[in-house]
Amino acid sequence: MNKKGINSDFSLEFYLKHKREFINQALLTILSKFDNKRELISAMKYSLMANGKRLRPVLCIASAKCIAKPDEKFDDSIILPACAIEMIHTYSLIHDDLPAMDDDDLRRGKPTLHKKFSEATAILTGDALLTHAFYILSKPSLFPFKSLPSDVLLNIIGTISDAAGTNGMIEGQMLDMKAELISYQEKKSNQNIEFVEDKSSLMYLKKMHTLKTGEMIKASVEAGAIAARADKNQLNNLSCYAQNIGMAFQIADDILDIEGDSSVMGKSVGSDTANKKLTFPQLIGLDKSKKYAEELISNALEALETFGKKALPLQKIANYIIERKH
Ligand code: IPE
Ligand code: IPE
Ligand code: MG
Ligand code: MG
Ligand code: MG
Repeated sequence: MNKKGINSDFSLEFYLKHKREFINQALLTILSKFDNKRELISAMKYSLMANGKRLRPVLCIASAKCIAKPDEKFDDSIILPACAIEMIHTYSLIHDDLPAMDDDDLRRGKPTLHKKFSEATAILTGDALLTHAFYILSKPSLFPFKSLPSDVLLNIIGTISDAAGTNGMIEGQMLDMKAELISYQEKKSNQNIEFVEDKSSLMYLKKMHTLKTGEMIKASVEAGAIAARADKNQLNNLSCYAQNIGMAFQIADDILDIEGDSSVMGKSVGSDTANKKLTFPQLIGLDKSKKYAEELISNALEALETFGKKALPLQKIANYIIERKH
């Protein structure tokens, strides 16, 4: 494991705990604007306030801090974009778990939303979280946080919506679904082999992971950098960091689906195998997958070198991504 640049008494555990509390409080403030007797609101709360790692909003905050002046307090003005990203991420998990997609029963340590409520409620709750994420960014004055200027917010909205949508996460999920279908058909018959080989190539898998997971992780880091007015060079370095950790994050997730402990992760293991998913361990094996993820983290740390000490949280998060058990 590359530990470059990690020799201070900074505690990631303490940092994550502190940031998660701050993010959870802000998410509750956002939800508190609704009448929580409504079924839709309790469904939103059920998934959003469950035990998520809050990695994306934390990255957003850490990235802003990496650019901001040392004495500049940024957490308050970046919190709405950070929460919007977490709401979009939570919606993606709700839909990802649906029977038509990965058909999973456990998420964030609890029954998946469609199991607890109903499939229709899960679809609509996902829709509501996605839509409300953009509403909060368009109406920052409704919330008790320091607001960013409109042009900065608009830039962030563009970055997040592009990453979440047709050119990003949704296309990635389409590729994921198609790969599943193709490997299933491949098992059933040997027809269409040329197409199968092309689709199960490493290039296809990298594109799928970049889009379904990497883009939202990149947008999280970029949103923080945009908020703190990063220049072009700084933004490029942070984007490079994010691209590398984004891919590593999904590879680690693929590995945890095989080696992980369901009670620690709060979601089922073996889901990818059961669904005949195209994953890194399935295509190149566990050892090569782990090596590749380490290489990516090493690239990510290199991209942070220009920022010095201010990048310490981002450095620690990079290592955590492949060491985590949850
Ligand atoms: C799970 O994301 C979905 C993937 C992109 C692999 P996380 O592992 O960040 O899930 P939570 O937010 O902690 O529940
Ligand atoms: C999910 O990937 C990516 C999303 C965009 C939600 P996975 O399907 O591997 O995520 P988990 O393992 O269910 O959390
Ligand atoms: Mg999936
Ligand atoms: Mg899944
Ligand atoms: Mg997975």
